[in-house]
Amino acid sequence: MLPVTIHDKQFVPYISNDAIQKRLLEMAQELNDTYKEQSPLFIAILNGSFVFAADLFRLVTVPAEISFVKLASYMGTSSSGDVVTIIGLPGLIQGRHIIVLEDIIDTGATLYKFIPQLLEHQPASLRLACLLSKPDALKYDVKIDYTGFMIPDNFVVGYGLDYDGLGRNLPDIYTLAGQ
Ligand code: IMP
Ligand code: MG
Repeated sequence: MLPVTIHDKQFVPYISNDAIQKRLLEMAQELNDTYKEQSPLFIAILNGSFVFAADLFRLVTVPAEISFVKLASYMGTSSSGDVVTIIGLPGLIQGRHIIVLEDIIDTGATLYKFIPQLLEHQPASLRLACLLSKPDALKYDVKIDYTGFMIPDNFVVGYGLDYDGLGRNLPDIYTLAGQ
């Protein structure tokens, strides 16, 4: 694997697609065990998680559904600050076993706002799976149930993750050079 340049920055190989697939298989085996009887509904958060979701979902062998949501966040005018709008939330969450799929959890801000909104729909259970997490960057109280890889607080691209719109199509994960 060679370094890549995206926009103005150089990135070096970090986690190979082989290593990702190996880890996804382990995660899927755990999910297949836990959700044997529960016909879970996966909810993947766009854009970043579409590659992770597609690969993980194909390793899930129990009956399962998947749906995708997009979060649009902006600064509200009220003192409550950030508002998250959910686009495309599936109607039938009540009583379902939900597994939220996120590409990377950085500060945790996104999920800290999203999870309570999902809980309002009264799922039977709700767990959170992410491909990557940055424990040193976590600022919000978000409980992660399944993590692919814990990584240091460095910027990464590839495998769905972007740097300013580009890099999502790289099969492997790269990290910013010189970090
Ligand atoms: P959080 O709300 O701070 O946890 O940030 C989560 C979102 O920020 C992720 O879904 C990504 O879209 C983006 N993000 C965080 N860290 C990175 C990174 O290292 N590379 C690319 N995107 C990132
Ligand atoms: Mg994202």
